[in-house]
Amino acid sequence: MNKKLLITILVVLVVALVIGGVYFFTRDNQESSNVARENITNIEEQNETENTNAKNGNILVAYYSYSGNTENFANVISKEVGGDLFEIERAEEYSDLYTDAEAEINNNEKPELAGMPENVEQYDTIFIGYPIWWDRTPAIINTFLENIDLTGKTVIPFCTSSSDSIEGSMKDINNSASEANILEGLRISGGSAESNIDEIQNWLEEIGY
Ligand SMILES: Cc1cc2nc3c(=O)[nH]c(=O)nc-3n(C[C@H](O)[C@H](O)[C@H](O)COP(=O)(O)O)c2cc1C
Repeated sequence: MNKKLLITILVVLVVALVIGGVYFFTRDNQESSNVARENITNIEEQNETENTNAKNGNILVAYYSYSGNTENFANVISKEVGGDLFEIERAEEYSDLYTDAEAEINNNEKPELAGMPENVEQYDTIFIGYPIWWDRTPAIINTFLENIDLTGKTVIPFCTSSSDSIEGSMKDINNSASEANILEGLRISGGSAESNIDEIQNWLEEIGY
């Protein structure tokens, strides 16, 4: 083998070694930076979930329902947001629903509750559900809200009715939960909770739950 050929082979070998080295070095760096980026994304996603839970805190879904429609709605909300369910009940049943319920609303009465949720102070968010009665909240809803120190808490009304919107009942909610942060509520028609699941999910998403 002559000297020129030997030098050429050596030069080719050195160049190949340099190119190979550079390739492996940059590939390893790329892989480790991909792994690092993936780890950062996972941590960011985890933080986001924790922040959402922290923001919503403990959730109570409390409702009064005379014939079951609002109860259906409450069940759907509690499933969606993972809150504790509580049925608001009167200490005394109505002897004549239409006469008694209308009178107690018009007279701003605060009928007695059968009970309150345990450790109600633990909840940061209270969904409050009711049927619309004479375009108002049933009087027991005002008793319930006024039994809780709502300072710094979030209250979210939801209701069912045959035709009226939630608007008329908001006077009562604003009065009885005046110290709370009240978010936009949702009214659905009668017992249609399961068939209105999209509307309910959109509303919950819009208000951040
Ligand atoms: C005493 C009473 C008063 C009502 N007043 C109204 C009303 O003013 N406007 C309306 O749209 N629906 C009214 N409704 C219909 C209820 O709001 C509706 O049926 C609701 O879905 C019942 O909910 P619940 O099954 O949870 O009790 C009234 C029903 C009752 C029993």
